[in-house]
Amino acid sequence: MQSIFTTIKTIAFEIEKAIKTTDLSYSTNANSSGDEQLKLDVLSDRIIEKAFATLHIVRSIVSEEQEGELELHTSGSYTICYDPLDGSSLVDVNLSVGSIFGIYEGPLEASNLVASAYVVYGPRLELVIAQKDKKPILYRAVDGFFEEIQTIKLNEKGKLNAPGGTQKEWYPHHKALIENLFEQGYRLRYSGGMVPDLHQILLKGGGLFSYPGSVEKPQGKLRQLFEVIPFAFIYEQAGGQAIDDKGKRLMELTPAFPHDTAPCFFGSNFEIEATKVAYGVS
Ligand code: AHG
Ligand code: MN
Ligand code: MN
Repeated sequence: MQSIFTTIKTIAFEIEKAIKTTDLSYSTNANSSGDEQLKLDVLSDRIIEKAFATLHIVRSIVSEEQEGELELHTSGSYTICYDPLDGSSLVDVNLSVGSIFGIYEGPLEASNLVASAYVVYGPRLELVIAQKDKKPILYRAVDGFFEEIQTIKLNEKGKLNAPGGTQKEWYPHHKALIENLFEQGYRLRYSGGMVPDLHQILLKGGGLFSYPGSVEKPQGKLRQLFEVIPFAFIYEQAGGQAIDDKGKRLMELTPAFPHDTAPCFFGSNFEIEATKVAYGVS
C-alpha cells in the first residue's frame, strides 16, 4: 500500500501545478452527477488515472468524473475511488480545493475501505493519510517533498459549525440542530469545499460538518465512495464519529451504484451525539 501513498504524493504535486496553470473554462461534458466538468476536473482525473495505471496492485479505479469502474490490473488487490478535484468551482475565486481517495480491498462498501487520503491545495500543499488502527497523519509539502507534521486527534467537543446544503430546504429538526449549536457559541466556518471545511475541523480540535438530506434531495449531495466514506474513516480514526441521518455509521454504508450519495454528519463526539438527539435517533 505504501506505493499507493507514494503515487498520491506525486499526483498532489502534478495537480497543484495544473491548478496554477490550466485555464478555468468548462469542458463540453457533464459528469454522472450532472455537474458540468471544468477542463481542470478532466485534467486532474487524467493525471490520477495515468498514475494508478502504472501500479500493478491497483485492480481498478472509480472516479467522480467517470461513469463506472475502470479495470486496470486484474491481478491487483485494491480499488481506488477518488474525487480528482473536490470544490473545483472554487478555483476561480481562489479558495482552497482538494483531492479525495478511498482505497478499498474487495467489493465496494465502506467496511472494505482499508485506507484513505486527501490532499488540500491551499496556501500550502497538505496531505492527510489514514490507515487502520492508527491516528491520521498530516504531511506538508516542503521543497518538493512531503514532510510529516503531526498526527490528528479530535477533541471530545469542538467550536466550529460547517452546515452544508440550502438553508431554505432544511428540515425543521436539522435547522434546530444548527441553530442550537450557534446558540451555544459555535462559529460558522463554511467555504463550500468539503476538503478544506473538514480539514479545518480536524486541525482545530473539532466541531460539526453536515450535509443533510432535504425534501428535494433526500440523499443529500455528497457521494459515498469518494467523498463520504473516505472522510468517515478519517474522522473515526481521529477519535470522532461520522453518521447518516438515521444515526448509522457511514462506515456501514453499501452504495448500490458508484455515484450514490448519502446525508452525512462528521464531527467530534459531542456534536454527533447532539445530532442523534436532534434527529431522534439516539
Ligand atoms: P465537487 O466540486 O467535487 O462537485 O464537490 C463539491 C462538494 C463539496 O466540496 C462541498 O462541500 C459541496 O459540494 C458544496 O455544496 P453546496 O454548494 O451545495 O454547499
Ligand atoms: Mn466533490
Ligand atoms: Mn470533484
